[in-house]
Amino acid sequence: MATRDEILRELGLAPTWRLRSRAHAGEALPAEVPEADVVVPAGRVQPLRPAGEAGERLARIAALEWSALAADIDACNACGLCRTRNRSVPGVGDPRARWLLVGEAPGAEEDARGEPFVGQAGKLLDNMLAALGASRREGVYIANVLKCRPPGNRTPEPAEAEACRPYLERQIALIGPQLIVALGRSAASLLLGTDATIASLRGRVHRWRSTPLVVTYHPAYLLRNLPDKAKAWEDLLLARQVAAPDTRTSSAP
Ligand code: URA
Repeated sequence: MATRDEILRELGLAPTWRLRSRAHAGEALPAEVPEADVVVPAGRVQPLRPAGEAGERLARIAALEWSALAADIDACNACGLCRTRNRSVPGVGDPRARWLLVGEAPGAEEDARGEPFVGQAGKLLDNMLAALGASRREGVYIANVLKCRPPGNRTPEPAEAEACRPYLERQIALIGPQLIVALGRSAASLLLGTDATIASLRGRVHRWRSTPLVVTYHPAYLLRNLPDKAKAWEDLLLARQVAAPDTRTSSAP
């Protein structure tokens, strides 16, 4: 098992970035953490529930327990992606996680294995979590905007993201995370209702309804833009600063 210093070196972050003490991680949001001035993003507005079949679907998904969620996602045909994907990819991690990480959509490897972030981007994500003393099994849950792979890994269509939104919202409700990290533009755009760039959204704290939300670069982008890894690491440190003290049984980042 690599040491924390080795992981940070591999990420190209050592010796610049040093972790603060764990005790510090438990502090409430300090005054110097910048709060975003995003005004009532779309994610905070409760849409009127549509009538008929669509309304019934929303109500059904909103009442799903963990035990039924994955099967429901697997049976979903609300958009065309169910016809081209191999496996649905509901999410992975601690069902009572303090941190919820939201990516874009499964790629080829995720589509084959049914688990998010298992390719190269996932390795980078795992290393960054490890540098924080966390993992996808401890204190963290990883989900995507889309639960099914778009053909050729194309960007999700807005209609696909909207069709899949109720599943992500149910996951957020079931987990009750203390913090959401939006990985990349698709997640930031769906959760904050903005087309703004990651560069303009990162470095401050937004809210999804009442839950603090931090935006950072998608790990796949970081693989192609190595200098921005240091910024992503800064974002994760901001996220850790924001997360409230751990009052739960699950371990924390
Ligand atoms: N990229 C994502 O956004 N999600 C995955 O699960 C894999 C790659």
